[in-house]
Amino acid sequence: MMELLKAIQSRRSIRKFKSNEVPDPVIKELLDAARLAPSGSNLQATRFVVIKSPVERMKLKECTPLPFVAHAPVIIACCIDREGMGNTRVRYRELMEAQAFVGTPLADDPTLMEASAKRRSSMDQAAIKAYLTLNAAIAIEHIVLRAVDLGLGSCWIMMFDSAKTKSMLGLEDRYDVVALLPIGYPDQSPAARPRLPLEELVLKEV
Ligand SMILES: Cc1cc2nc3c(=O)[nH]c(=O)nc-3n(C[C@H](O)[C@H](O)[C@H](O)COP(=O)(O)O)c2cc1C
Repeated sequence: MMELLKAIQSRRSIRKFKSNEVPDPVIKELLDAARLAPSGSNLQATRFVVIKSPVERMKLKECTPLPFVAHAPVIIACCIDREGMGNTRVRYRELMEAQAFVGTPLADDPTLMEASAKRRSSMDQAAIKAYLTLNAAIAIEHIVLRAVDLGLGSCWIMMFDSAKTKSMLGLEDRYDVVALLPIGYPDQSPAARPRLPLEELVLKEV
């Protein structure tokens, strides 16, 4: 297994893939990395559609101006489940049973989580979408890094028509596609892309 630091350092956005198929057990490994990602209140409201069939991949060409996306042997459409917010209390109970909050005020004072659940139920659609998308991003990046670990390349794609993709995939209204992730064996080995120096990222130390 590759060291995490090495995976972080060697990851690139890959935009050209070999045509070799990605075996199903490998795809399962990728999805399992997403499953293990943390999420707010352990909501686990990120969902995935695995697109492999040549017919579906060709349809995807209508959903993005970037042809390399559909040329990948597998594309994962990453979705949020807007109804996932409704599970807050169930997930909280599971966390309590798993002793997740031992030694913190959350373990002894149920009103804290209740207040948080209430706050959530009054969030508007835009705030819900932002919150679930933040959670989805973590799961997606877990896939991206696990892909490096397995010798695969991928590229986050937000340049696509979400509504068109949703309808193409026949998804229920509750789901929104927030990113596409083409994945395959890299047919390019790009140099590291520019990054700002650390000094520009750290606003201050206090
Ligand atoms: C949220 C997000 C959205 C992105 N959307 C696209 C996209 O639509 N098309 C694309 O070619 N690359 C996209 N990228 C890849 C970025 O361009 C890339 O991460 C950045 O240029 C740095 O390059 P690197 O990933 O190789 O380090 C996206 C990346 C992120 C994190």
